[in-house]
Amino acid sequence: MTGEAGMFLEKYGPWALVIGGSEGIGSAFSRKLAERGLNLVLVARKPGPLEESAAVIRNLGVQVRTLSTDVSKPREALAAVREITDGLEIGFMLYMAGANLTRGVFPDVDLELARKVVAMNVDGQMEFTHHYAGLMRARGKGGIVLVGSLAGNVGSPMIAHYSASKAFSRIFSEAIWFELRPFGVDVLHLNINFTATPAMVRLGWDVSTAEDPEDVAEEGIQHIADGPVWVVGGKANQDEALRRTAHMPRSEAVASVVLPPRK
Ligand SMILES: NC(=O)c1ccc[n+]([C@@H]2O[C@H](COP(=O)([O-])OP(=O)(O)OC[C@H]3O[C@@H](n4cnc5c(N)ncnc54)[C@H](OP(=O)(O)O)[C@@H]3O)[C@@H](O)[C@H]2O)c1
Repeated sequence: MTGEAGMFLEKYGPWALVIGGSEGIGSAFSRKLAERGLNLVLVARKPGPLEESAAVIRNLGVQVRTLSTDVSKPREALAAVREITDGLEIGFMLYMAGANLTRGVFPDVDLELARKVVAMNVDGQMEFTHHYAGLMRARGKGGIVLVGSLAGNVGSPMIAHYSASKAFSRIFSEAIWFELRPFGVDVLHLNINFTATPAMVRLGWDVSTAEDPEDVAEEGIQHIADGPVWVVGGKANQDEALRRTAHMPRSEAVASVVLPPRK
């Protein structure tokens, strides 16, 4: 490959690890990485969608490895993923898995599900980044994208644990973006708005007005080097992220984003 595609492959290749690469935005992102010549390691829980995504990507002419594991048990998951990546040069990591699983006034939420959300978005992002960022720093190149949410820009009633976990992701990304930049490693917190993914459909949301996973993935890939934070979806979402982050008094900011309790 030559030109821009060659530079992309040189900087972020030859292998990409996508945590949550079987469906929705993660699957679309993985295809777009393959179109740029990267080989893929895809991680998710359900083997069916994982193998379907892998088959589509193999048809693009790159190598694909898959692993079914649960990143809400981050240490065990990292050990399992390392078994297939320790012999590979992972030049890019996308940590996509992390949607919310439970909703309500906090004492009423299912604490076991809330623990999983926090484990994926806090411990998981930290564990995987610690390992793969270290290897990228040693090579002097690479890219890491950690996925967040508009909900992480303000404490969001009914999804308190989720919004707090995505706030961790943003703050963590900002700090390591600065630390790793001198070593040639790009870090990006990809701040996502409502998107029509299979997970959201399964959770019962009407996704008819939601953003298209293909568009979100394409925008993410275009802005890997534009860290520390990229808000997907244009000026309206960027203004909304700013409003949620900066609006004073905070009582008004919080009251403006209340979700209905789950039916
Ligand atoms: N969709 C939205 O409206 C929206 C809005 C804002 C932010 N986001 C963020 O965007 C990201 C993607 O969201 P999504 O809606 O596509 O849902 P998701 O449930 O995070 O699913 C994305 C991918 O991650 C995998 N995954 C989920 N839980 C996993 C686990 N415990 N272990 C391993 N893999 C797991 C899924 O496959 P399996 O289910 O087979 O494991 C799938 O491949 C999340 O971080 C979410 O917070 C989404």
